[in-house]
Amino acid sequence: MSYKKLKTVIFPAAGLGTRFLPVTKASPKEMLPIVDKPLIQYAVEEAIEAGFEQLIFVIPPDKKAIKKHFESTSELDAVTKIGAIIPANVSSLYIEQAEPLGLGHAIWCARDAVEAESFAVVLADDLIDGAAAGGCLLQMVRHYEKNGCGAIGIQKIALEETKQYGIIKYEDEVGSSNRIATIVEKPDPQFAPSLLGVVGRYILPSAVMGQLEKTQKGSGNEIQLTDGISALLGDYRIDGFQFKGQRYDCGSKIGYLKANVDYALKHPELAKEFAAWLTTKQ
Ligand code: G1P
Repeated sequence: MSYKKLKTVIFPAAGLGTRFLPVTKASPKEMLPIVDKPLIQYAVEEAIEAGFEQLIFVIPPDKKAIKKHFESTSELDAVTKIGAIIPANVSSLYIEQAEPLGLGHAIWCARDAVEAESFAVVLADDLIDGAAAGGCLLQMVRHYEKNGCGAIGIQKIALEETKQYGIIKYEDEVGSSNRIATIVEKPDPQFAPSLLGVVGRYILPSAVMGQLEKTQKGSGNEIQLTDGISALLGDYRIDGFQFKGQRYDCGSKIGYLKANVDYALKHPELAKEFAAWLTTKQ
């Protein structure tokens, strides 16, 4: 079977970043650096590696840093190599989300730009080092191409963490199918349908846009992507996808710090000196 090639990826980046104030007051959290690159750049590189050709950034009206970061500035390009991050065959579009009404609303803001049957969503604050397996999004694109279904990145989480994640349940608990039967946003532990938490990587049928149009405010009084997806599950196969790789929750301070340490320990110019310095901290 062959399915329409995936073209479009949406990077929602218009949240308030309240967990990282004050650093997020003037700049979106997606611009937080991991060593020397902002989170959004890792996300863009992952999408380009996976073959996406249309990048849509949903940004707040008052924070233009992401657009500036990827804009070509000929004098600096030679130094930053930014120009080379987004190749000529890949287009970028910046859409403003006037008010931070939630992740589902942010995705819906990009509805007119999504033409293909399916599209991807990457939450840049979930940094995933796919290492030898290739990026998480590339792994998911292969799953889509093989099975012709949607996919959502998932990983096992602890019971006390259910209130931080979308939580899924497989249709077949024995494990012969990975099709998602249920998805709920940030349930209390006693209501969590499993301990499989959603990580910020999605391949979704464009029909989700029509659902988001109708979706009311849910968890946290926000329009949730999870609720739009939930309304599709009867008609569309969307699989839970357990990717290979290390995920860092860079929406939390501790996850962000861990990512910086691990990436510094792999950085060709810093690794040796940084590792030696760390040993003095025990
Ligand atoms: C969002 C999603 C949630 C998902 C999480 C992954 O929540 O709404 O379902 O599990 O990303 O990082 P947020 O962390 O933006 O509150």
